[in-house]
Amino acid sequence: MDTFIITGGKPLKGEVTLGGAKNVALKLLVASLLTEEKLVIENVPEIRDVQLMIEVLTSLGVKISRNGSTVSAQNGHTNQSRVPLDIGARLRTSSMVIGPLLARYGEAMIPNPGGCRIGARPIDRHINALRNMGAVINYRSDDGYFYASAPKGLKGISYDFSKNSHTGTETIILAAVLAKGKTIIKGAAEEVEVDELITFLNSMGANVIRSAPQEIVIEGVASLRGAQHRIMPDRNEEVTFAIAAAVTGGRIIVNGSQRQHLSSFLTAFTKAGGIYEEIDPLRTRYSRGADLKAVDIETKPHPGFMTDWQAPWAVLMTQSIGIATIHETVFENRFGYVEELRKMGAQIKWTDPEVNRPETFYNFNWEDHEDGDHHAICIHGPTKLHNAILTMNDLRAGATLVLAALAAEGQSVLHGVEHIDRGYEKIEERLRNLGAIIERHKEETV
Ligand code: EPU
Repeated sequence: MDTFIITGGKPLKGEVTLGGAKNVALKLLVASLLTEEKLVIENVPEIRDVQLMIEVLTSLGVKISRNGSTVSAQNGHTNQSRVPLDIGARLRTSSMVIGPLLARYGEAMIPNPGGCRIGARPIDRHINALRNMGAVINYRSDDGYFYASAPKGLKGISYDFSKNSHTGTETIILAAVLAKGKTIIKGAAEEVEVDELITFLNSMGANVIRSAPQEIVIEGVASLRGAQHRIMPDRNEEVTFAIAAAVTGGRIIVNGSQRQHLSSFLTAFTKAGGIYEEIDPLRTRYSRGADLKAVDIETKPHPGFMTDWQAPWAVLMTQSIGIATIHETVFENRFGYVEELRKMGAQIKWTDPEVNRPETFYNFNWEDHEDGDHHAICIHGPTKLHNAILTMNDLRAGATLVLAALAAEGQSVLHGVEHIDRGYEKIEERLRNLGAIIERHKEETV
């Protein structure tokens, strides 16, 4: 349990290199269960979620070694198809092993997935699709496990995700590559991370194409082989550094820039008075103009303004002139940072936008909404943020509080650094290189 001590108010300046994309690395590692041959994956970030995934896969018989940012994985499956509760329950993507285990071994036992506490986060859409593919899946509430088997193997199907699911789409792809026949996924997630998984699986010998923006066609094959791949840089990190430059009044060059995958963010950022300059195809310079202006956003699956960016966006809006609304439509509860920003002086109020047919409008299952839940906030800016003692309660909320503390006057103490360690490698080192005053303390030394 570590703590960050941050002294804010200093413009961040310099150059930073993005780490490999967390939401690609996790899925490429899961693919190791699909073959006995070796996978070599480069640019794998050293973050807690990746470490947890390595533990999950090791428990299933995959031999994994790391040399710097290169990870080698070779499956030596030993009839172990049960993900241990203590590891699986800490990582939502641990549930994704269900596809490869069913496709190759006909059996999987996975605990109800854990991970970031950003709402109910069920996996009913994944389970429904796998049942359609011929899997028999029972959930036992006494031990919190899904018991899955596919006695006759998995078969290709046509499946329509009526609501978007990023990892749901990937779970079905990971199952369908070795299923019998053709699978057509409609309503497929469009995130670029899904396409990187497709590219990787095809290099292993799979036959997967995106036939339309929201349609993916998979022809099952008999077996897959080893492959080598370099993971794309993490675009969510780029958004974090862009906002860091703007809220501290600094200038940051991002190396490994993914601006081609950030259109909706860059449009809103520019409208708000943020500046980005293309230095070359892989480098972007972020800064801000004299005044920042309030800009409303509504989160949507890719290519919309992603839910992962709304919490950092809130910090930018605390520094902007006017009233900005943030409407979260993907998760039913992703405002865990609001109370913490208020402690720093942010003027934030709950609001309830008019929505026709919320059960179809929202991407979460409407039955997961509880009376009194709010799905939007209004931020009145600009406010001079001040220091506070803060607690992070999920990954993106953690990054948000770091940004707020960097922008604030005085010294802030941030508890719950393990949340930010899930997805940002050595964040304090990289921020220090940009001039930030940030130290990591062991909880007991504070
Ligand atoms: N949902 C269900 N049932 C399902 C699947 C999803 O109700 O079976 C709900 C979710 O609870 C949520 C919404 O549908 O309200 C969308 O969920 P989705 O399945 O698309 O999200 P995810 O696959 O669990 C991934 C990323 C998230 C990112 C979202 C949206 C990974 C490992 N995680 O989550 O990333 O926010 O897609 O793009 O790829 C993060 O990196 O901090 C993070 C949370």
